Amino acid sequence: MTSLTAPQHDDKTVTFADVVPTARILRILAISGSLRQVSSNTALLQAAVALSPEFVEIHLYGGLGDLPHFNPDLESAELPSVTDLRAQVKWADGIIISSPEYAHGVPGVLKNALDWLVSGEEFMGKPVALFNASPRATHSQASLIEIVTTMAGRIVPEACITVSLLGKTLDAAGILSEPEISGELSAAIVAFTKGIESSTAAYSS
Ligand SMILES: Cc1cc2nc3c(=O)[nH]c(=O)nc-3n(C[C@H](O)[C@H](O)[C@H](O)COP(=O)(O)O)c2cc1C
Repeated sequence: MTSLTAPQHDDKTVTFADVVPTARILRILAISGSLRQVSSNTALLQAAVALSPEFVEIHLYGGLGDLPHFNPDLESAELPSVTDLRAQVKWADGIIISSPEYAHGVPGVLKNALDWLVSGEEFMGKPVALFNASPRATHSQASLIEIVTTMAGRIVPEACITVSLLGKTLDAAGILSEPEISGELSAAIVAFTKGIESSTAAYSS
């Protein structure tokens, strides 16, 4: 397993140079809770992909809209889109979820995907970072914490960020060109890699 070490700083600035990889690539699955073509949450995750250092591979999940409605009767049915979701979650060392809020709740498509994962082992114990593209979306964020925790996911609080993309119509390139937002994003990715490391160490000890 990769060993990441972080030198201490007098200030709070964190950069990828702080994280020194010594073994293998960390794999992160990024799930956007929005199906919108120009989704700010998807753009945030695309920017995270662009910012990830060479020892971190972030894969953006693209199957949210293909999943059937969750039905417990079909849990063992090996439906291709569900099997693919479970395989991608299993592949990942950690999961980032970035989601909008709809009517003070988690979007149905995202909750549907999570419901397909409830009974399996793929999600259990997995480190999870929650990104939020809107400071207004507090209910869905709180709800996601509850859902992920109930599913035995391990929220990494230091890697959970809220940035303000609401009404800005920024794509990934636009996000990367905003130093404050891209700085927060980079710091969150660094914090998540460290969280995955310590979570894995704690889990395997
Ligand atoms: C049907 C619907 C319901 C919404 N409900 C809320 C809400 O309860 N609270 C909120 O802060 N924003 C709400 N919004 C706004 C979205 O969360 C916001 O536009 C978000 O940025 C969309 O994310 P996206 O750009 O990734 O698609 C709602 C939007 C839609 C379409």
